[in-house]
Amino acid sequence: MIPITDERPSDADAIEALLDTCFGPGRTAKTVYRLRAGVDPAPGLSLVARDGTDALVGTIRCWPVRLGEDARPSLLLGPVAVDPSLQGRGLGGALIRETLARAADLGHAGVILVGDAPYYARFGFARPPVERLALPGPVDLSRFLGHEIVPGALSGATGLVRPGRRAGAGVPRTADALRPDPCAAIAGAL
Ligand SMILES: CC(C)(COP(=O)(O)OP(=O)(O)OC[C@H]1O[C@@H](n2cnc3c(N)ncnc32)[C@H](O)[C@@H]1OP(=O)(O)O)[C@@H](O)C(=O)NCCC(=O)NCCS
Repeated sequence: MIPITDERPSDADAIEALLDTCFGPGRTAKTVYRLRAGVDPAPGLSLVARDGTDALVGTIRCWPVRLGEDARPSLLLGPVAVDPSLQGRGLGGALIRETLARAADLGHAGVILVGDAPYYARFGFARPPVERLALPGPVDLSRFLGHEIVPGALSGATGLVRPGRRAGAGVPRTADALRPDPCAAIAGAL
């Protein structure tokens, strides 16, 4: 069994390389990346898997988001990726289950993601919990899914999903101050 451990700062380059391999270099144009830009991953929920040679073969991260009109705190799960040579052996499922278990232990109640419903259904993700939510950009809605760790956690959530607390929030940063909020225009259009 391949051990799953906390991500280390020194894993960053290997993770980017694995994500490029699994998703292609155009991945950062996806709408979910708008929810990750400038935001630190949720503490304790960035995990990796290493093979017997200590090579990084799996990654998963989660991000804080705020859901809808009441800015309900939640998690955005992903990306999750497994080295192509090891796919189909249960590692992706193990990474997701470990992350959800840790999220529950840390007191998180709701999780959203954009991914393949036939895969994520086995972990409890489905469309209904997020049907009244919108993402800040184009997305195939059949792939926008939610999971309630605590029953009812996503109940009634309506409106736009926004990024969670930005890295360094509270510290004035000129570039951020000048950059328009990409969610603002979409929120106005809802
Ligand atoms: C998706 C991914 C993380 C799954 O990891 P994995 O280790 O291969 O998955 P597991 O071994 O735990 O599960 C394998 C099962 O999931 C199924 N599965 C894998 N990807 C799937 C998908 N996109 N849609 C539907 N089913 C999928 C397999 O057919 C297999 O089914 P079985 O159990 O009935 O045989 C991995 O395949 C991967 O990195 N893919 C490329 C990146 C990606 O697509 N990430 C997820 C975004 S949706």
